[in-house]
Amino acid sequence: MISPQTIEQIKNRIDIIDVVGEYVKLKKRGANYLGLCPFHNEKTPSFTVSPAKELYKCFGCGKSGNTITFLMEHDKLSYVEALKWLATRYNIEIEETETSPEQKQQQLTADSLYIINNAAQKFFTEQLYQSEEGRNIARSYLQERGFRDPIIQKFQLGYNPSAKNILATHLIQQQFNKELLVKSGLVVIRNENELADNYRNRIIFPIHNNTGKVIGFGARVIGSADKAPKYINTPENEIYIKSKVLYGSYFARLAIDKADECLLVEGYTDVISLHQAGIENVVASGGTSLTVDQLRTIKKYTNNLTIIYDGDAAGIKAALRGLDMALEESLNVKLVLIPDKEDPDSYVNKVGAVVFNQFIAQNKKDFILFQLEVMLKEAGNDVGQKSNIVNQIAETLSKINKAEDFTRQQDYIKQCASLLKIDEAGLTNLVNKFKREKLAKEEKKLPFEDVKGTPHQPFADTSETSLDLLQQDEVHEKAVIRVLLEYGLKAWDEKKTMAEYIFEELEQFHFDNSDWEHIFSMYKTAFEYGEEPTTKSFLYHTDEKIRNLVITATLFPFELSQKWDEKIEGLNITNRDTAQEDVRMTINYFKLKKIKKMFEENQKDLETATSFEEQMKFIEIHRQLKEAERELTNRLGTVILK
Ligand code: UTP
Ligand code: MN
Repeated sequence: MISPQTIEQIKNRIDIIDVVGEYVKLKKRGANYLGLCPFHNEKTPSFTVSPAKELYKCFGCGKSGNTITFLMEHDKLSYVEALKWLATRYNIEIEETETSPEQKQQQLTADSLYIINNAAQKFFTEQLYQSEEGRNIARSYLQERGFRDPIIQKFQLGYNPSAKNILATHLIQQQFNKELLVKSGLVVIRNENELADNYRNRIIFPIHNNTGKVIGFGARVIGSADKAPKYINTPENEIYIKSKVLYGSYFARLAIDKADECLLVEGYTDVISLHQAGIENVVASGGTSLTVDQLRTIKKYTNNLTIIYDGDAAGIKAALRGLDMALEESLNVKLVLIPDKEDPDSYVNKVGAVVFNQFIAQNKKDFILFQLEVMLKEAGNDVGQKSNIVNQIAETLSKINKAEDFTRQQDYIKQCASLLKIDEAGLTNLVNKFKREKLAKEEKKLPFEDVKGTPHQPFADTSETSLDLLQQDEVHEKAVIRVLLEYGLKAWDEKKTMAEYIFEELEQFHFDNSDWEHIFSMYKTAFEYGEEPTTKSFLYHTDEKIRNLVITATLFPFELSQKWDEKIEGLNITNRDTAQEDVRMTINYFKLKKIKKMFEENQKDLETATSFEEQMKFIEIHRQLKEAERELTNRLGTVILK
């Protein structure tokens, strides 16, 4: 573990222009820099970098973050790797912290498991090629199925002989610890204390992690499986975490990157056969439904996922299970169903690479539309079922909720509405309803603190989704956060800071948007504890949602900031560029907006008041609000707010 001091040192040295500038040609525009976004294709630059705030945001695709997340995202580095990259660049010596005894133990176990797996893999390969049994039974079986030597060697296939404990004996001879051997899944304990090979008489498919180390094995019976299970897989242990395994990812990475597409199949043999046919951008899910971790691994390399499954009902069901999750990860999902009871392995062997590729290209279906077609076919003329389908599809579409996917969502709404023969606006409304419901549920379920560390943060950029309902008020709330972060620590007068002024002024007011409210109270708490919060301290917050909110609050697109300047210019306020004026105006706008809202509410109360006393009370409130509004409008000059 890198020590907090070193991390602090690195953060202090970070020069975002220098780092990002290494990858993106940046031009200075006002206080910021502008360039072509490295995360999506664009012709006019919308990728904005703020050296003062040490952050970037693309106003085209919505990607945003700090220098560390930039390196993680762009170079696919882990957090630690990104820190090391920066440390090297700035000549900072890395100080490691002590690891806890449990961590050490876990690391030791993991290291030993890698070594055991490596030894076993070598043994299995040797057996496949050198033992008579291996050659006669296993290698000939593989050959019969069309696997040739180069591909067998690339994927390091092997054989575990049928004798009771030949591998166990071999590994014990090498002084490996018995408990660890059991943990690796390679051996099991039989008859009290005797070790026996777990994968006897099976073909071995080693499973590699992203760096090519063997983390586990799939072991297949030779021939058809009548009694025994077809495959035995490594049990969950320190290095084999089933939900994270994507078979073939190590061999597919470069090809996926190059093709900008990842093919997903079900089985080990599918991956290997496709590779042999020259189709290398392929990984396997291992027959279970896709997990979020697997989808995220894929997303590191591409946004385009093509699922190739058997055309039978089970295959389709399995594929559909991953759909909503894939949409939430904003992957473009396509589906190809292999015909006639074949799977990708048997099909490519039957028709060859050229025809296979053609088939994929011609039969690639958009996943959402495919799902809709399947459901419509099933429903026939049943009106009740059809209305269920409308609901279901609206819910699915509501999962496409990242700001950058907005156009894609609209396209889908158009196409689905036409397939369903319903009104487009109606479907849009329904989709938005699902979005709002989801948002409301999340707010209830996850008070902001709890969001930290949860694996999925559905609204990376809450303020910029199509929830236009929220948007009007939000602008003013967002602005308060902006001035607070930007000027909070500066002096308001001799007695107090800007932050204190803001707290005082807003004491009687509240935020309507819970995200901004949360940032506001986080700031306030930190401030009251004597910390000195700034944009930067929030920018490196561990919670991605908070980071993104802060970026949204503080960075505007170049054109917009220009417009803002012009607007202020039009107001004819002197000293408009001072921090104090910015704070004062922002606070007053905020209050005015809130007061207008109170007006409306009070008006309603007044209309429904049942007694004279009540009416008088509301009229008095009305008077006071009017007073406050007049004062604020005076302070703001002659601005009429809409
Ligand atoms: P399949 O039954 O489709 O096997 O299971 P396959 O990969 O096509 O293998 P061959 O072509 O018959 O030799 C697909 C995947 O599901 C997992 C394996 O990962 C397999 O590759 N599986 C299947 C198991 O883990 N255990 C089983 O018993 C069966
Ligand atoms: Mn198969």
